[in-house]
Amino acid sequence: MIDNIYVIVAMTKKTRAIGIDGDMLYHLKEDLKYFKETTLNHTIVCGRKTYFSFPKRPLPNRKNIILTRGNDHYDQAFTLHSKDQVAQYALNHPDEKIFICGGDNVYKQFMDLASKLYITEIDEDSPVEADSFFPQIDPNLWTKVSESDYIIPEKAPRYKSLVYDRNL
Ligand SMILES: NC(=O)c1ccc[n+]([C@@H]2O[C@H](COP(=O)([O-])OP(=O)(O)OC[C@H]3O[C@@H](n4cnc5c(N)ncnc54)[C@H](OP(=O)(O)O)[C@@H]3O)[C@@H](O)[C@H]2O)c1
Repeated sequence: MIDNIYVIVAMTKKTRAIGIDGDMLYHLKEDLKYFKETTLNHTIVCGRKTYFSFPKRPLPNRKNIILTRGNDHYDQAFTLHSKDQVAQYALNHPDEKIFICGGDNVYKQFMDLASKLYITEIDEDSPVEADSFFPQIDPNLWTKVSESDYIIPEKAPRYKSLVYDRNL
């Protein structure tokens, strides 16, 4: 675990689905606001595919780090090339809060390094079609430390925000 590495995700409650065809499952206005407020003025790390799914990039007022095995350079964004490089970066920048922002592939790799999980849990009626998923949150490893009320949008399922701390 590394103290300043956090994970942030929006997933469905029943199947932990997070995306389809390279896109998000739902565009939840209040959740996007929550994501912005939580990550603003901090550092975000995301896989190259997720980075290119952002309609506006880099995300403003955050240090954007793209995880890629390629050598391309991106305007106003930094690149790192392995999980170890991200871990080293976090250890070298203890004053930065580093939010792992997906996708599927990246979440699976970073669960063992994260100290906190920011989960938006979408309460879908029946399992939604998806091709990207978030890993199980092992209750032996994680403790829920906060939970919001449900937000009930007009045209999407209700959802709430949860925060988990890793058990020490
Ligand atoms: N619901 C949510 O909160 C949420 C958040 C984010 C994403 N998503 C969804 O997740 C899906 C995308 O996930 P994905 O798994 O297909 O793609 P991804 O994780 O965004 O990107 C995968 C790419 O990241 C790079 N990468 C991953 N691990 C690496 C490592 N250890 N070292 C170096 N580079 C590494 C590679 O880039 P190169 O090919 O350039 O080497 C790889 O092809 C989309 O549907 C998206 O909408 C959902």
